[in-house]
Amino acid sequence: MCGIVGYIGGQNCVPVLINGLESLEYRGYDSAGVAVISNGAIEIRKTKGKVENLRNLLLEQPVSGTVGIGHTRWATHGAPSDVNAHPHFSNDDKIAVVHNGIIENYQELKEKLQAKGYVFHSDTDTETVAHLIDDFYKQNNDLLEAVRLTLNVIEGSYALGVLCTDYPDQIIAARKESPLIVGIGEGSNFIASDIPAILNYTKNAYILGDKEFALIKADEIKLYDIDGNEIHRDVYTYNWDVEAAQKNGYDHFMLKEIYEQPKVVMDNLSRRFSADGKHVELDGIKLGRAELENINQIYIVACGTAYYAGLVGKYLLERMVRIPVNSEVASEFRYKDPLIDEHTLVIVVSQSGETADTLSALKLAKAKGSRVLGIVNAVGSSIAREADDVLYTLAGFEIAVASTKAFSAQVIAMYLLTLHIAQELGTLPEKDFLEIKEAMLRLPSQINDILTKAVPAIRSFVDKYISSKNVFYIGRGLDYVVSMEGSLKLKEIAYLHSEPYAAGELKHGPIALIESATLVVGVATQESLFDKTRSNMQEVKARGAKVLAIAMQGNRSIEEVADDVIYIPRTHWMLTSVLANIPQQLFAYYMALGLGEDIDKPRNLAKSVTVE
Ligand code: G6P
Repeated sequence: MCGIVGYIGGQNCVPVLINGLESLEYRGYDSAGVAVISNGAIEIRKTKGKVENLRNLLLEQPVSGTVGIGHTRWATHGAPSDVNAHPHFSNDDKIAVVHNGIIENYQELKEKLQAKGYVFHSDTDTETVAHLIDDFYKQNNDLLEAVRLTLNVIEGSYALGVLCTDYPDQIIAARKESPLIVGIGEGSNFIASDIPAILNYTKNAYILGDKEFALIKADEIKLYDIDGNEIHRDVYTYNWDVEAAQKNGYDHFMLKEIYEQPKVVMDNLSRRFSADGKHVELDGIKLGRAELENINQIYIVACGTAYYAGLVGKYLLERMVRIPVNSEVASEFRYKDPLIDEHTLVIVVSQSGETADTLSALKLAKAKGSRVLGIVNAVGSSIAREADDVLYTLAGFEIAVASTKAFSAQVIAMYLLTLHIAQELGTLPEKDFLEIKEAMLRLPSQINDILTKAVPAIRSFVDKYISSKNVFYIGRGLDYVVSMEGSLKLKEIAYLHSEPYAAGELKHGPIALIESATLVVGVATQESLFDKTRSNMQEVKARGAKVLAIAMQGNRSIEEVADDVIYIPRTHWMLTSVLANIPQQLFAYYMALGLGEDIDKPRNLAKSVTVE
């Protein structure tokens, strides 16, 4: 969480910083601020709320300069407020700092600094860093060394941007466990939490590693390790164009990303099959028969939407490969002393590749000798770099906080991985593989079909039930997993109380909550479970619920137990999840739209959660 951007070059940095911060708002929007070197002093403008507020503040109190850093915050230490907004100053306004992450030992450091006479103005952990750098700088008069010494003292995670009035021609940046890249321009250079912030200016960057720091001037970049040794890094070129970070005529990034799914799924399927069409080929995965035969269990670990994509994998792998698969949310897995060893394959799933809990789970798994396979969207992210094998999900930028296209790409990755493992271990006959492959290749046009046809029905359902306060999602098997993701989406963006239940479990308690006009989304796309789920829908309908069903084309008997039905095109049983989820995304989107919520930036959430 939190977004950082910095610019040093020949032009006024303020528009660069503001535009950059706007494209980083998916990381947090509790406050925003900039620090700019102007006529030998550092000027800070910062305010509670979104970058738009900062833009307005800068109209009232303009500032300009060619060197600056900016920050958009997701609050951890200290409430969202003007005073807790970054950047933070040292006491004599000489050093300004922006920070993403958590300084875990800040309290102890703060007390030591207070004993030395430092006065704290905010409740943040970050202010400690500004004073610490200042303290070391006063001792040795060398800013770069003062930053390095500070990095040796602080514990926790950080991406940092530092300005100092004595060095008006440089920015210092550092990172540990929070993302930071150093963008390479012509006569100008940048720092950023993520490439969209600087994509208007450059596609080339150095990706800083853990405990590395950088000295950035307009025409020079030097990288160092924590011991102060200069290091060399290859330039990474991002193959994304500026349009990817724009709405392109859509009202919201979420809607744009929903409509990108046919292409995303196609991208994830093309070049994934061998030339003879008889095998899955996954670049970056070195799990052949020998390695797989050494594995006696699989853990799939992730957070949020990625966890539900992982659950799809659990259902498929257990059924098609017959290996026990545990699926755990990363924040539980990391503290439960999991029963894993060198015979365990741990699959971590993450869009951002930076989620703190998932990254810690990965490190724990490696420490216990397990092989770790990452299913990751963000190229070069921490999880991608630390995993033994990486399957990239090729979803492109996902900017809306609520994940849509990244989920679909993760589910496709699960399909491909399941087929790969099943083929290597000989549990999938070629005839079945070919049938599934053909069905997979039809998915992009089938998603397109849903996007074209389902919207009017969903909008009319939303219009009828917009005042609902509770929404239940029910399904069985893979449909239950899809229900969980649908329910999460509705909570995230429409702020409606919503719960997913295994349809068969409803009668053991939750059915007591069903009353007249309670809304129930029933997912019944698994043909082998269709009659069972249909009966459960009948049970809620008999108690007054209004039912929106999602079913496969041809299963018309669903209409007897549902008020409205969205049909998905027919497909193989293992592939229904990606299709069944599309109407749920649209339902959550149009509910949130009808309720007037801020769809792309839902309250209290952030897209990239780099704190525990
Ligand atoms: C946050 C986001 C979710 C996301 C989860 C995991 O909670 O708001 O949309 O699913 O983090 O993120 P990851 O980047 O690891 O997939």
